[in-house]
Amino acid sequence: MRTPLKIVLVGMPGSGKSTFGKALAMQLNFAFIDLDEAIEKGESKTIREIFEVEGEGRFRELETLYLTKVISGVEGFVLSTGGGTPCFNDNMELINEQAVSVYLEVSHEELLKRLAKDQASKRPMFAGMDRGEIILKLKNLYAQREYFYRRAKIKLSGDDISTELLISELMSFFR
Ligand code: S3P
Repeated sequence: MRTPLKIVLVGMPGSGKSTFGKALAMQLNFAFIDLDEAIEKGESKTIREIFEVEGEGRFRELETLYLTKVISGVEGFVLSTGGGTPCFNDNMELINEQAVSVYLEVSHEELLKRLAKDQASKRPMFAGMDRGEIILKLKNLYAQREYFYRRAKIKLSGDDISTELLISELMSFFR
């Protein structure tokens, strides 16, 4: 496979989609797009405000709307999606039709570590939760989402691996 011109990263919150996506885009000289940021910019509201004021249902509509717009755009990008993006409104089909999808698989322990460090409470899905509640929420979300993530064309496992190693592993699929 030669390097695809549209790469879409999927995975749980805290799996490193944005960090990895930015580094990958730089390496390939592609644009980097963060779907949450595109929504925030387009709607002039934070994701948290959308969740709190308009509800998750409205957020999921917007997510599909912006995904559709971004994914049909000019080639040469790495798109980092939100953790829930592939799991609603047939978004995973859309992603797989238009792009090469990459699932960043990270263990629950590592996700928890990263979310705690990242102040999980700032993420609306985990707002106001203590550690025990976050563990439960992660487990439930993963149980609902695994099916969608596993439909990605490429899977990368990256608990302790550096971004550079992950990139070289991904590039080996394209050679
Ligand atoms: C969500 C994850 C977030 C963001 C929104 C919903 C989810 O993105 O899209 O808060 O449903 O898991 P990250 O995966 O970048 O945290």
